[in-house]
Amino acid sequence: MTDNQKLIDPDYDYDRAELRKKLGAVDELPGSAKPNPILTVDSITRRFGGIAAVDVDHLEVQKGSITALIGPNGAGKTTFFNLLTGFDIPDKPQGGAAKPRWEFQGRSLVSTSAYKVARTGMVRTFQLTKALSAMTVMDNMLLGSQQQTGELLSRSAIWPIWRGKEKVIRAQAEELLDRFKLLEKKDDYAGSLSGGQRKLLEMARALMSNPAMIMLDEPMAGVNPALTQSLLGHIQNLRDTGTTVLFVEHDMHMVRFISDWVVVMAEGKLVAEGRPGNVMQNQAVIDAYLGSHHDQDLGDDAVLNEDFDTAIAEEDVELAKAEEAVEAYAESVREKEGDGD
Ligand SMILES: Nc1ncnc2c1ncn2[C@@H]1O[C@H](COP(=O)(O)OP(=O)(O)O)[C@@H](O)[C@H]1O
Ligand SMILES: [Mg+2]
Repeated sequence: MTDNQKLIDPDYDYDRAELRKKLGAVDELPGSAKPNPILTVDSITRRFGGIAAVDVDHLEVQKGSITALIGPNGAGKTTFFNLLTGFDIPDKPQGGAAKPRWEFQGRSLVSTSAYKVARTGMVRTFQLTKALSAMTVMDNMLLGSQQQTGELLSRSAIWPIWRGKEKVIRAQAEELLDRFKLLEKKDDYAGSLSGGQRKLLEMARALMSNPAMIMLDEPMAGVNPALTQSLLGHIQNLRDTGTTVLFVEHDMHMVRFISDWVVVMAEGKLVAEGRPGNVMQNQAVIDAYLGSHHDQDLGDDAVLNEDFDTAIAEEDVELAKAEEAVEAYAESVREKEGDGD
């Protein structure tokens, strides 16, 4: 047992049927109150030039749920994640408007740095992965247990932190890498992984801090269908073992398949909320998607399980290219440094 292993939370619906029953009683309206919110957001806005990228009045995320945040491209989903996790700062309220407030597990996260947000138990992954290519898979994991900023720290800066705890942390990293089928690759450069494997590594890395909530920004994007299935399993397993999940996803099949609740954003605002089976029928949602993307797939059944072989073959080609690039890079480093160590 590692020293930061999650304890049983008496307040968490480990039983998913129980959770869904509770959510079944929630109003399907934007900003609706939840019986047991882990995250509550009020009056958060962020403008870029004249455009309100985010303008959210109120949102509650139910503890123990897998909540999907969906919406057309440019709806403000990533910006919203950035604000909540301290990677961006909301606008100052204008006129008599209310001040932005958001609380995670009852604790205000206003003016909290990304690093500190992660320490409170709310971690996120990025739409574009931030796995550090020139570090090994294991080093990425070790970095993940201490800092979540996605910024490059030199080894010398972080290594002293590990003295004493390193053994326990490595064991935890190995356990997670094993779970995500990356253990064999622990000594490989992250840059040599396929796009899908990098997504898995990023998720595994985020889990190093045993978060109470994980926010995933398009976790399935670029992941081949074979890995997609296992990623879905991982996400559900996380929920079942005590981590609330808030995720952004475009693929409505995924959304329907794994989420307990869906929140819909368009042009910065929440336009709908509801159970996955209902929300896509909502006129505001249909309008939001039609207004932006005539070709957006709202969930016919053609996508899942098709073209595995093609996707895998394509990934293999990418992987071979990446391996060559890493080998060339390693070679250039060896030339520069000579053989001494
Ligand atoms: N750093 C930025 N500077 C200027 N505009 C931005 C910036 N980040 C996002 N935007 C704009 O904010 C809006 C919301 O973007 P984003 O949050 O990325 O949407 P989504 O993740 O839903 O696709 C878009 O119009 C986008 O162009
Ligand atoms: Mg985005």
